[in-house]
Amino acid sequence: MFVAWGSLLSKRIDEWDHKAMSDAASALRAGELVAFPTETVYGLGANASSSEAVGMVYQVKGRPATDPLIVHVTNLSAAQRIVDQAQMNDWQRAALRVLAEQFWPGPLTLVLPADLSQLAGEVTSGTGWVGIRQPAHPVAERFLKLCSVPVAAPSANLFGHVSPTTAEHVLVDFPNVDKLWIVDGGRCGFGIESTVVRINKEETLDVLRRGGVGPSQLRNALVHSDLLDASNITAVTVIDKYAVEKEKNSLFSPGQRLVHYAPKIETVMVSLSDAVSDDFQQITPHRLKDLIVLDFGGYLKNASHIVGHYRDLSSSEDVREAAFVLFDSLRWAETIAGESGILWIANLRRVIKGSDELGLALVDRVVRAAAGRTAEVSFKQDSGRVSVSIR
Ligand code: TXA
Ligand code: MG
Repeated sequence: MFVAWGSLLSKRIDEWDHKAMSDAASALRAGELVAFPTETVYGLGANASSSEAVGMVYQVKGRPATDPLIVHVTNLSAAQRIVDQAQMNDWQRAALRVLAEQFWPGPLTLVLPADLSQLAGEVTSGTGWVGIRQPAHPVAERFLKLCSVPVAAPSANLFGHVSPTTAEHVLVDFPNVDKLWIVDGGRCGFGIESTVVRINKEETLDVLRRGGVGPSQLRNALVHSDLLDASNITAVTVIDKYAVEKEKNSLFSPGQRLVHYAPKIETVMVSLSDAVSDDFQQITPHRLKDLIVLDFGGYLKNASHIVGHYRDLSSSEDVREAAFVLFDSLRWAETIAGESGILWIANLRRVIKGSDELGLALVDRVVRAAAGRTAEVSFKQDSGRVSVSIR
């Protein structure tokens, strides 16, 4: 199947069309952009050795040149060819091997000194470090093999918007980009972006973004291969500090900006409050209809019949299921919201029990979708009617 879409030059191709896939791979090698599915989210791919192609990625996404791109490869040796072995010590080389062998293909990006004879400098945003990952998706695997060059690919959304988990999402963000190919491989199975980890010379790891591989898994892998002493509890650090826009230039991983996965409607994380104090305001029934609620485990189920729209990310409190549907649900909320629509998301910090690491990755995405905004609500049953107050 070969479908012309939107502007005459955009091409959306089916994952099973071998001829179209290899045409897309040749186009990528020659400098065109090809969006493709991975197990996390869709990537907007470009030939990682071409400054011009990589430059187009930044331009099309509206992404600041200070935010580096992840390079996608098909195996560990391909990764070893694009890192600067001479700048790495034995520990970094061993950690790359151990972590890649254990977690690739999969949602883990490893950041190491880049070999700039193999990569366009723009990929690293001038940091000299490159993030690399081997995605676990059969279509990505086939496509990357056909490309036979390392493929730089950020998530295939406009900068600051919600990451795409279907080919439709990509089209919504890029309806008019000339010569954009989109490989349609259905819905991404995992649903949130990879864990990003820097492997430091000092024999430590910095988790720059939480994702599918948890810090304790990384730690265990290093301990089991004798790269880390089990008593060393500070070697794996999660850089969780949210940065504000004005500080962005000082950030090592600029994707840590607070507003990062934002839907185009006002979004608030909501937690329940038992006591209603003077500073609570009652929400009129009319305003309640403007609300869209994304719940988790029925936390806000009192709202389900009185608000405009209600969806539970996982009624069984399954973090994996919630990760799978989160971005699609944020985009759904955007499309159904009227002009005065407001999105409430259950404050996952209150709802997810314990220190589930994927849960923390999910919390991270929700906090960013809401740009850190929180509110407390209280539901009261008054002679059969539910009234809702907020502060
Ligand atoms: O799951 C994923 O990681 C998806 C799929 C397509 O692979 N990609 C993705 O890319 O989410 P992007 O560009 O949307 O997010 C990459 C994150 C950004 O926060 C970026 O700052 C960080 O990784 N990053 C990439 N290369 C880096 C580097 N060399 N040093 C530090 N941070 C880096
Ligand atoms: Mg992104």
